[in-house]
Formats: sequence, C-alpha cells, structure tokens
Amino acid sequence: MLLKSGKVITKLLIQTRKMHLLHDKTYINGQWISAASNKIFEVLNPADGSIISTVPDMDIEDTQKAIESAANAFETWKNTTPKERSYFLRNWYNLLIKNRDNLAKIITLESGKPLPEALGEVNYGNSFVEWFSEQARNVRGEIIQSSTTTKKILVEHYPIGVAALITPWNFPHAMITRKVSPALAVGCTCVIKPAEDTPLTALALLELAEEAGIPKGVLNIVTSGRKNAPKIGKLLCESSLVAGISFTGSTQVGKILYKQCSAGVKRLGLELGGNAPFIVYNTADVDKAVEGAVTAKFRNCGQACVAANRFLVQEGVYDSFVGKLVDRVKDLKIGCGFDSGVRIGPLINRAQFEKISNLVGDAVAKGAKVVIGGIPAPKIGELFYEPTVVVDVNKNTMLFSEEIFGPVIGIVKFKTEEESLDIANGTDRGLAAYFYSEDIKQIFRVNRNLEAGMIGVNEGLISTVEAPFGGIKESGIGREGSHRGVEEYTYIKYTCIGNLE
Ligand code: SIN
Repeated sequence: MLLKSGKVITKLLIQTRKMHLLHDKTYINGQWISAASNKIFEVLNPADGSIISTVPDMDIEDTQKAIESAANAFETWKNTTPKERSYFLRNWYNLLIKNRDNLAKIITLESGKPLPEALGEVNYGNSFVEWFSEQARNVRGEIIQSSTTTKKILVEHYPIGVAALITPWNFPHAMITRKVSPALAVGCTCVIKPAEDTPLTALALLELAEEAGIPKGVLNIVTSGRKNAPKIGKLLCESSLVAGISFTGSTQVGKILYKQCSAGVKRLGLELGGNAPFIVYNTADVDKAVEGAVTAKFRNCGQACVAANRFLVQEGVYDSFVGKLVDRVKDLKIGCGFDSGVRIGPLINRAQFEKISNLVGDAVAKGAKVVIGGIPAPKIGELFYEPTVVVDVNKNTMLFSEEIFGPVIGIVKFKTEEESLDIANGTDRGLAAYFYSEDIKQIFRVNRNLEAGMIGVNEGLISTVEAPFGGIKESGIGREGSHRGVEEYTYIKYTCIGNLE
C-alpha cells in the first residue's frame, strides 16, 4: 500500500539508494561482507511497507568471525593512547555532523519517525561521540594513602576487552553511539548487533567510522533477521572472547541475556523497559504540564523506554488538564515522517501495532472512555494509530500496568499525594518518572520518594549526554552517558607497591 505521499518516499528511496551511506553488506574486520550463508533479509519502511534495501542475514558463524576480529583488534587498540582514541572519535564526530541530513533521512525511512525528530536524534546521537572524544582523556586513576609508609596504593582503569552491544530500533543512531563511544574511548573494541527493523542507520554509522580512520576490527557489526537474533545474542553472552554486554531493549529479553551472561560472570549493562508515571498535582502549572505530557508521551510516537506511561492527575486540576491536553492532541498531525508538520509517524511493525490496539481494546472493555483517538488510521497507512487519550482507566488493565510503547495516554484521577506515590511506585520498573508541581517542599518530598533512576520535575524531556541515563528495579543495571558512561567499559586495577623503605 502506498501513502498519499508515496511519490515523495519513492523519490527519496531512489536518492537514498545512491547515497554512499546506504550499505547492503555488513562490516566485519574492516571488510564489507555478505553472510557466510549469503542469506539476506528485507528492511521495510513502516510508513508504507515498501522495501528500502536488503542486508545480510547473519548467523552464529558470522558472529564468531566478528567476535574474533574484535578480539584481535583489542590487542592493538588497548595500547593506543587516550589522545589517539580521542582523535579518532573526533574525526568520526566531524563526519557525522557533515552527514547529518542523510543520516536523518535513513532514520526516517527505516523507523518512520518524523524528519525533524530524526534530525534531533542525529544531534543527540552525535553528542555522545563528541562527549566521549573529550572524556577519553579524562579517565583518571588515583593514589590512595596507605596505613603504612612502606606501601603505595595505585588505582587505575583498564578497558574490559571486547564489548558486545545489542541495540534497539527506536533510536537506531543514538543507542549505538551512546554505547560505542565510551567503549572506544577507554580502549575496548566492539561487536554491534543492531535491531532487525533498523540496521541501515547502524551500517551508515560504521561507514563513517571507517572513513574516520578507526582501524579495522575495532568496530564490527552483525546484522540478522528476527529468527537468528536469539542465537546471536546467546553466543555474544557466552563467548569467552567477549568481556561485557550492553543491551538496550525489553525487560523480557534483558532477563534472558542476564541469565546467559551468568555462566561467564560477564560485565553487563542493561537499559530495559520503563513504566514511567507522569503525575500532575493540584499545585502544578497546568499549561506546562500539558506541554510536558505531549513531549514525554509523543516523542517517537511513544516508542521510548522513558516515555510517560501512566498519567496520574490530582482531582483539583483533573478537568482542566484533560481538557487542555485533548485540545493539544487534536493538533498533532499524523502521517509520513517526510511530510511537513507531521508529529506522529507509524508504529514500527505489525506486532507493535497489534499490541497498541489490544491495550486500548482491553482498557475500554474494562470501563475506560476514549476522549480522542482510540482507533487505527488505515487511510494513512497500515501501521498508523491515532494519538489517543483515554480516561477513567482501571488500574487492573494492561494499559495501566504494561509498557505501552505507542501514542496512547491513559489517565487515572487521584486524591492525595500519598496515593499518587503508592500508584507510581507500585511497579517492578523504575526507569523514569515525571511530576509537575510549583510547591518547592512538595518537589523535594516527591522527588525523594519516587522510585526511579531518572526524574523530570516540571520537565518532559530528560535525555541528554551530560546526565547518567539508567534505571533501578527491573529497568536495568548501570548508567550510560555522562562522565560515568566510561565505567561500564573499564575495570579497576588496584596495585599495591610494597617495601618502599
Ligand atoms: C529510550 O528511552 O528508549 C532511549 C531514548 C533516550 O535516550 O531518551
């Protein structure tokens, strides 16, 4: 099926296929290669189902090759100086900036997100490369005073070795650079396994890394379709040549990887699912809360782990918040990401689309009322779902308890601050949380009591390179970005120098 703007997409596809950034081969050990089996899989544009390209459908034999390539390269890369690594990262960053527009087009083509958002993601993703090019030279050890005069205690950071990075489709650029950049900065080499829905952005990033002169074997990428992904993940977790895994994706898959890593007691970074509460107190500035809600919910069509998931609104501002929110949601244009003014693109694939339809159907069957949306938009495309607001949501519905990952806001009314905290914390997830209040005492009180790794107070967009990104409870282990991002890829070596008299 073609969109109204099908001609635009077709023209873009033709242009994109001529781009040097678009690869139909995978990059291992400095070579652009096919799968050993020669199998391929199709990468689809979620806006209209058209085929953008094909890429190698790799398996464990290819993955083993990628791991060995990264392990060999580690022997040299670990001995480069921080200044040299910083230089390579800066070169890469400069090329990422130069190719910003084409990278954004590839992101929109394969993920469906509106072009301005794709450009935003490119800026966000590039910022990790820039940041860690600077952090490379700032990884510091320490000398600790010993209890005797005859000993010195040295603490240094060393690269862990080969890092396997398994990345999601929702931010196909930024989730790679957020992991690769700190790994390279400290001297690790990498095997990247991008999501099957969005491998083209990953390959484009690697093309630019190659142009930046990053030596062969330091970065390797294994593309595969859905069927081979679990086997590849297992090998990455169990190979003795891999020192650590960093995964961004669902809690369900994260738990499988966690188990698989236990045999080798592997270093593990997990950025898993969220179930973020978005609380609006009677003390809130309602206009600001509405703007924050739109940002926290509709970024990337709601397909973000940090997306606001459960809206809790105190009774004193409930009617005003819901009324203003619905007016604002009416203005959100849905359509192909290349059309001007579009805020809501398609869902990534059929499974995601069906999940959203089921969550809304279940909530409505249990008494919720749809105020706006609540239906697919098949005239625009098969994977489009109207931006939706649902009120009177029963807390026992899937819409309230599960991570939605779609453009649906479900609202629950509450009476007291205590009740809001009970509901907000009543989940096994703890990635992000948002709340709106103009009362400073309440801000500190609620902030202290909310169980989440990241909190937005009167703010709907919290992701930024300078801050540590990560969750608590079943939302994950470790932090990415900020000066702490390098810690995931280093181990501490303590050296005791004795007999100094
Ligand atoms: C996510 O929430 O899925 C990651 C995107 C981000 O860094 O904000």
